[in-house]
Amino acid sequence: MGYGGHAETGAGRLFGAWLASGDVDDELILLNPGPACTSQRVKDALLRGDLCHREPEFGELLARIRTDLPRALGLTSHEALLVTGSGTSAMEMAVISSVREGREILVVDNGVYGDRLLRIARANGITAHAVRPDGDDLTRWTTPVDPEAVRAALAEHPGVDAVAVVHHETTTGLINPVKAIGEIVAGTDALLVVDAISATGNEDQDLGEIGADIVCGTANKGLHGQPGVSFVLCSPKAVERVQEVPERSLYLNAASYLKGQRSGNVPFTPAVQVCYALDEALQEYFEQGGFAGRTRLYRERAELVRSGFARLGLDVLVRPDLRSNSVTMLHLPDAVPYDRLHDELKRRGYVIYAGQGSLSSRFFRICTMGEIPWHRLEELEGALAASVSAARA
Ligand SMILES: Cc1ncc(COP(=O)(O)O)c(C=O)c1O
Repeated sequence: MGYGGHAETGAGRLFGAWLASGDVDDELILLNPGPACTSQRVKDALLRGDLCHREPEFGELLARIRTDLPRALGLTSHEALLVTGSGTSAMEMAVISSVREGREILVVDNGVYGDRLLRIARANGITAHAVRPDGDDLTRWTTPVDPEAVRAALAEHPGVDAVAVVHHETTTGLINPVKAIGEIVAGTDALLVVDAISATGNEDQDLGEIGADIVCGTANKGLHGQPGVSFVLCSPKAVERVQEVPERSLYLNAASYLKGQRSGNVPFTPAVQVCYALDEALQEYFEQGGFAGRTRLYRERAELVRSGFARLGLDVLVRPDLRSNSVTMLHLPDAVPYDRLHDELKRRGYVIYAGQGSLSSRFFRICTMGEIPWHRLEELEGALAASVSAARA
């Protein structure tokens, strides 16, 4: 089964062939929240050639990406640090590089990724306090954290150096009130650390308005590059702070990246080809209208697929006003086991994603991230209807 090439014509032809033959579609559309499908242009960029990262050409590539990333996200006074690793490496770099010796972190936890921020802090010996809604997983993971609870926790823990929050909790597709939390943190000495890994480019909230000191993101997902490279964007206040913290990790110490990258260098061997792809994805992003164009596309996609879900009687877990533009968590229809639904949809050319943790047996996720031909989103409703019938036990 081929996984590449989502050029409109290629995908259309193959999909048409599947419709005619009832056979397996060999153009798989990934509807999981990353790695997401990428354009042919971005895939081709992987083949720009071999390059030593100590050569000036890599320095130029790095400089361009370091300028374009903050520009793409409306954070032009932030400085970008590029790290070879998945999104979790950016989270870890952000957490361990924002808390000074003997100081503490406050983590907003209403999903798997909030919990991960907490675990990262604790694994690195940083005292961490959690702010989380009450209740079982289902309640906690569908409730945005009350910004007033953050204010109260900050008053209770004066040693807090950083407040960490996930912008878009991919666990359920819920948007947290990052702007309101940012306003509270702005009045303190603490840094606001935002995990925007599943939000960059695709969610409406302008990161520039949030007042985030550190923003974590990844090349793939809403930016449509390839997975394997992540980034941490630092405000001037964060740039100062990361140079004041102890070196808690050799590989993920932000201060080392800051020093090296300012002189066109990276401390460790980077995924050069993934950087090429990110460079191309960023050019594509600007050509397609930048932040406004990309978020509009994601809003339109959400509208399209969610109207189909409604026609099929599939209920969305998260309240409409809290939903992201990209992830929809749906109740599994009666007598439809997730694994069978997944396999039936995969036969029809779509990869969906299970719910996480204790929600995995009752819910599933459909995510419209990455490069997806519009007609494949239109055809999803029919594929879903057929798959639900075929999967019913
Ligand atoms: C909000 C959020 N944070 C962090 C991560 C972790 O990223 P990775 O799996 O690339 O390490 C993800 C991955 O989906 C995510 O959605």
